[in-house]
Amino acid sequence: MAESGSRRSPVKALLDQGREGQQVSVEGWVRTRRGSKECTFLEINDGSCLANLQVVVDAQHEQFAIAEQATTGSSVIVTGTLVSSPGKGQRVELQAGSIDLLQAADGDYPIQKKRHSFEYLRSIAHLRVRSNTFGAVARVRSVLFFAVHEFFQQRGFVYLQAPMITASDAEGAGDMFQVTTLEPQSGEAVDWSKDFFGKKVNLTVSGQLEAELFAHAFHDIYTFGPTFRAENSNTSRHAAEFWMCEPEIGFADLDDNRRLAEDFLRFFIQAGLERCPEDLAFFDQRIEQGLLAKLNKILESDFETITYTEAVRLLEASGENFEFPVSWGHDLQSEHERYLTEKKIGRPTFVVDYPKEIKAFYMRLNDDGKTVAAMDLLVPGVGEIVGGSQREERMDHLQARMKEFGVPEDEYWWYLDLRRYGSVPHSGFGIGFERVLMYITGLSNIRDVIPFPRTPGNVAF
Ligand code: 4AD
Ligand code: MG
Repeated sequence: MAESGSRRSPVKALLDQGREGQQVSVEGWVRTRRGSKECTFLEINDGSCLANLQVVVDAQHEQFAIAEQATTGSSVIVTGTLVSSPGKGQRVELQAGSIDLLQAADGDYPIQKKRHSFEYLRSIAHLRVRSNTFGAVARVRSVLFFAVHEFFQQRGFVYLQAPMITASDAEGAGDMFQVTTLEPQSGEAVDWSKDFFGKKVNLTVSGQLEAELFAHAFHDIYTFGPTFRAENSNTSRHAAEFWMCEPEIGFADLDDNRRLAEDFLRFFIQAGLERCPEDLAFFDQRIEQGLLAKLNKILESDFETITYTEAVRLLEASGENFEFPVSWGHDLQSEHERYLTEKKIGRPTFVVDYPKEIKAFYMRLNDDGKTVAAMDLLVPGVGEIVGGSQREERMDHLQARMKEFGVPEDEYWWYLDLRRYGSVPHSGFGIGFERVLMYITGLSNIRDVIPFPRTPGNVAF
């Protein structure tokens, strides 16, 4: 059952491949205990899958009294014989031989066999991991984390571990967490030259600038790491600490970039469907009805692409009463993005060529002189999951853009050097790992797809 040399028989392996008559030992936690005069049933979960292994303890069993103390949440090791199960929903169950009750959980175990609200589960994140929903999230997260690397490694991309401490503000949005060893002093102006690094530094908001640097040596590269943003927007889609994957491809324009993002998302969804069928079926049943159909459809249909200007036209013609008015030159709000993908288009949509004023300094100016080669990928239910662009590879244009945005050339001398020594057209994007997880699980709050979410005012656990 267990691989030779491994110490345990995961419940998943027992349920999938266990044979009748086989002697096994299972280690886990009691999900429920119910009983009659004749026997006690313990449902054991060990995190290997959604399903529990049912353990049967007859009343004549010498350890029957112990089984009765094994209340919900208790930790146990049960050794016994697999037998075919007369019960519905499982092929085999475990006829208990010996029961080792490692610890009987206190009677007030906070996760009971009923639906708890997500808010409540977040407040007990140390035990939330033993709930069905978060268990499924954690397994899917683990599998898809690996799939990120797999996708890029299969294509020969080099993995760059971008630094987490940096002096640059790639996005220019200013939502940064400062990193300092100086004691706070009231009143006086701070002399940052006395700080640890001799200047003001922050946690990274994006590894993109370093990624561009690597793309000028390795052609195709990707970063994948924690990203930090101090946006004080307490929304269901923003976390202060999240994971972003940022591929950067050399000798590539916006169309190449779009194709890469589309291929990536498809690969990702396929990996989830193939490798986590049980967990996704659970999400389909309990979280978002029609989730599996939605994901399968993505594998077959092409994504839509519209320009920002077309998007504005569609929104203006929609007849909808938006909270934020729509007009060319203003950024799309999430209500606009949702209208476009959910009501108007009904599938993942790239919006490209945004006004240059509302996008970052590094994006390539289009020939119209008014828009830049930006792309956002919007999906129904979540909104933006990818943000990217073709980069400005022409020195004079880049310098002009930096001037407009007040980005100091002396601090970005190395970034400018890339345009001096073998500059090439290049493009890239950032994909928010948690945003994709929301899309794949159907969960509507980012806090429910992160083990220990960090949001304004909340850093518990
Ligand atoms: O659109 P963004 O800000 O783009 C960049 O950071 C570029 N430097 C990427 C690049 O071109 N290399 O962020 C990219 C993605 C968003 O589309 C979103 O999915 C996710 O990162 N994201 C967040 N996810 C969770 N919480 C937040 N606060 C996020 N901010 C961005
Ligand atoms: Mg963005």
